[in-house]
Amino acid sequence: MCGIVGYVGHRPALDVVLQGLGRLEYRGYDSAGVAVVDGSGSLSVGRKAGPLANLAAELDGSGRDGFVGTTGMGHTRWATHGAPTDRNAHPHSDATGAVAVVHNGIIENFAQLRAELEASGVELTSETDTESAAHLIARQYAGDLAAAVRAVCRRLEGAFTLVVTHADEPGRIVAARRSSPLVVGVGDGEHFVASDVAAFIETTRDAVELGQDQVVTISADGYTVTDFHGDPVATRLFHVDWDLSAAEKGGHDYFMLKEIEEQPSAVRDTLRGHFVDGRIVLDEQRMDTQELRDVDKVFVVACGTAYHSGLVAKYAIEHWCRLPVEAELASEFRYRDPVLDRSTLVVAISQSGETADTLEAVRHAREQKARVLAICNTNGAQIPRESDAVLYTHAGPEIGVAATKTFVAQVVANYLVGLALAQARGTKYSDEIAREFAELEAMPDAVADVLGTVERVRALGRDIAGSKAVLFLGRHVGYPVALEGALKLKELAYMHAEGFAAGELKHGPIALLEEGLPVVVVMPSPKGRGVLHSKLLSNIQEIRARGARTIVVAEEGDDTVRPYASHLLEVPAVPTLLQPLVSTVPLQVLAAEIARARGFDVDRPRNLAKSVTVE
Ligand code: M6R
Repeated sequence: MCGIVGYVGHRPALDVVLQGLGRLEYRGYDSAGVAVVDGSGSLSVGRKAGPLANLAAELDGSGRDGFVGTTGMGHTRWATHGAPTDRNAHPHSDATGAVAVVHNGIIENFAQLRAELEASGVELTSETDTESAAHLIARQYAGDLAAAVRAVCRRLEGAFTLVVTHADEPGRIVAARRSSPLVVGVGDGEHFVASDVAAFIETTRDAVELGQDQVVTISADGYTVTDFHGDPVATRLFHVDWDLSAAEKGGHDYFMLKEIEEQPSAVRDTLRGHFVDGRIVLDEQRMDTQELRDVDKVFVVACGTAYHSGLVAKYAIEHWCRLPVEAELASEFRYRDPVLDRSTLVVAISQSGETADTLEAVRHAREQKARVLAICNTNGAQIPRESDAVLYTHAGPEIGVAATKTFVAQVVANYLVGLALAQARGTKYSDEIAREFAELEAMPDAVADVLGTVERVRALGRDIAGSKAVLFLGRHVGYPVALEGALKLKELAYMHAEGFAAGELKHGPIALLEEGLPVVVVMPSPKGRGVLHSKLLSNIQEIRARGARTIVVAEEGDDTVRPYASHLLEVPAVPTLLQPLVSTVPLQVLAAEIARARGFDVDRPRNLAKSVTVE
């Protein structure tokens, strides 16, 4: 939800900021803008609707006149208040043009602030909530930008990160954070603020995570952090454990295609270090084993793809731990008054660690005294910070908006949570846990095997790219896979796609079947839960009887299904619960290929942003 970057140093700020924005564009791409201040206090602002390339072309066309300073900031937008036009693009300024502000989040009391400004004669030129902040900071300013920003932040409601510069203070950028993410990049004679370390990873891997309600001032020489009242705050420096190559396409046309290929290592790296001396260990655990033992109910809360991984967790945890598990959309969870208490464990899954609905679900759970365990791909993000225990997925940065490698990493992390609970509760012997872990350790190779066979999937994708819809069916852990396959197709190819529990086919969806309609069926293993296999075989007959095309994802060697599959996509045989790790992969590839055949940018699907930091 908007990418922001600020820079103070010794290099031309425009180049540094544009490069940083390029790495943050996954956060929003409705419009982009920059502001640069030179040493004499001249502030230049450029803004343009559309992707960053539009802004860069316009700046190049004008010879980048005026953008010569070494202090600058930029923004890439996912529109909330106001259409994605030049006028609504950030940065926003006050009437004198002395202040420039970029913003990520939503200022919830903006209507009241706008009314107050208009009543005092200020003419607002955009429809955004952000512009009010620019005017308020300008009015508050009395020679100390940080003090003005702090005073205004105390008046703002909602979630926001602001980056601010003032013509009278060249060589300084002030940024404030409430809920929306902000990290400080610590370089040699140069400093950054950004929504994500990707913006400055090329220069430095040393960073500081800004906490809730904190304000940072950066200059070329250093940074200082205070709270919203100006009291100094201690900070913790961390070293980013991935490098520039992880944030580049590495020869692929799209990040998503690279990220699909990185799935074996995402699985391997997420498992690493979690089985020590015969025991499952989490990354951070601020709850003791007795508390894990006392858990009598589990809620898994998440959004989108992360929620689908949570549905898989339900099957694994119930089976291994004999505990009731509810997998729930985070956006629904806190509005339906769930029954929570000290012995409830809430597992919050979020790649970004900043999804607003999941964060609010975590806060709600903790207010009700439940314990929260976060599964997150972003070190130090808000959700893990507010949780009692954390398990990080080590998928590396995911730049494509569609979640792929983080899904398989989340599924793996869910299994680890299930095994940790089984270990604490004694529902599995240690040798059983060791066996389950060994089966997980075999999964990177199984995923790599699937990747070796996807050319057929690509050809199929091109073949069905003209279809008006695709249905996906699965049962047991194949059901979340079906949901995930449909979500990938919707978000990338803008096609009507629905995932169903196969048992529901006859209760309504069967009416959608017609001649030639592609129906993807995720088959369970004929071995593990054989009874489900024969039920899905019956579904396939029902689909064929109505003239639809069956695209069947099935275990290698499953000859019973072969005669009935219009297209057979084989995946390696793996234990039933682990099947989503292999059967999701062809569906990711299928969606990406259909989207490409239809001419769409798979890294930046329309209307979407990677992190949804507003409700
Ligand atoms: O960062 P999170 O895992 O909390 O994000 C949750 C969803 O927004 C995300 O999984 C979304 O559904 C994906 N873009 C789908 O590919």
